[in-house]
Amino acid sequence: MSVVTVIGAQWGDEGKGRIVDELALSADVVVRFQGGGNAGHHVWVGDTQFTFHQVPAGILSPRTHCVIGNGVVLDPRTLLEELRSLAAKGVDLSRVHISDRAHVIMPYHTLLDQLEENDRDATGSGNLGTTARGVGPAYVDKYSRVGIRVADLLDVDQFRTKLAFVLNQKNRMLTQIYGMPPLSLEEIHSEYYGYARELRPYIVDSQSYLQEALAAGKTIVLEGAQGSLLDVDFGTYPYVTSSSTVAGNASAGAGLSPRSIEYICGVYKAYITRVGTGPMPTELFDEVGQHLAIRGYEIGRTTGRKRRCGWFDAVLGRYVARLNGLDAAILMKLDVLDRLPSIKICTSYRLDGQIIQQPPANLALLGKCEPIYEEMPGWQQDITGAQSIADLPSAARAYIARVETLIEAPIIAVSVGPRRGQTIALQHSPLLVNLQGALA
Ligand code: IMO
Ligand code: MG
Repeated sequence: MSVVTVIGAQWGDEGKGRIVDELALSADVVVRFQGGGNAGHHVWVGDTQFTFHQVPAGILSPRTHCVIGNGVVLDPRTLLEELRSLAAKGVDLSRVHISDRAHVIMPYHTLLDQLEENDRDATGSGNLGTTARGVGPAYVDKYSRVGIRVADLLDVDQFRTKLAFVLNQKNRMLTQIYGMPPLSLEEIHSEYYGYARELRPYIVDSQSYLQEALAAGKTIVLEGAQGSLLDVDFGTYPYVTSSSTVAGNASAGAGLSPRSIEYICGVYKAYITRVGTGPMPTELFDEVGQHLAIRGYEIGRTTGRKRRCGWFDAVLGRYVARLNGLDAAILMKLDVLDRLPSIKICTSYRLDGQIIQQPPANLALLGKCEPIYEEMPGWQQDITGAQSIADLPSAARAYIARVETLIEAPIIAVSVGPRRGQTIALQHSPLLVNLQGALA
């Protein structure tokens, strides 16, 4: 096997960055295939903390090449900042490659993201709680066929023609709908052409780059952003992100055949969190929720917002495992549950007197679903030093086994702390957590 997809199996922030970082240590290429700067992938190496928004989390592995794929919407201004800060930490940027087919987040996208949110607030429909990175409006333009792609930025005249057309539309929206001043064509053109010149060395035809890598027998990790519950089709629409976050989109967003993907891994937290608006059946409003938030340091890396915390939702967990056809699941942050005397898992929902096993598409109904819990004893001991499954208390092993049964996907590893190496491969899995192991 040479291509592995890693996806978020909840509402994002599951620890994908950490897993991708560990997998990258033995991978040749890591590719981001969707999303944009809304992602915040967090990796600790020793005492240094790295947060990746647009650069794939594989970049800290010294020999791994990292591709920002065609399915991504990229913000050149913040990408350049991210690249500069990585260079300042000694990271070799010659391993970064940007798809010429990726779409560019323009200043009007970030502005409209915020204005649309304000509008939703003002009209009483409630905002979506976006990350205000312009991701949604950029995908809208992609599908409206007025997007500007990386390849367009490099062609000074073509860029001006395309920008003039779309900016005319956006300025009418800004002035007539939102009462804002218009944006200047000249200023945007010269600013973004400047970015294009800086980014030029990184820009490649990523689909041929990846196909050649595949033909040469390289190992490739496709790094998902967000999570399946934020997927535009299968998530809690409209409280979702604007891209397809499921494994099914990994091939299209990278430019590889779906046949080339041999292994799909879903990353879950041992509990569940959500940032932003939208229903969350197992959300906790009590001291247990606060305990999870504090022990798990549940603060969004992109927006600084507090994450909502709740018990593991196995109804959603199983739905996501099936949607993605997970070969494996990884359960992160098990140590956050260390001190709890008892732990609950939601096994089904009660809706209008009926027991259901699937999340309804209708959000009003999902909002009415009451979780039905199973309760298990906690282990009430520190597991952060555990190095193998044998070091885990039996109550922790029982919890993992129960989650595994409920989601119907094998749990191949758990994490017991935030650092590299605090990931335990489980004995009952033939697969180890690093890619060589996973691909053995
Ligand atoms: P990573 O990759 C958690 C959420 C936002 C909001 C909704 C829409 O770090 O797991 P958007 O800006 O995408 O239009 O916002 O999606 N959201 C995330 N939540 N982790 C993320 O990424 C997220 N990216 C977007 O909070 O509710
Ligand atoms: Mg995040």
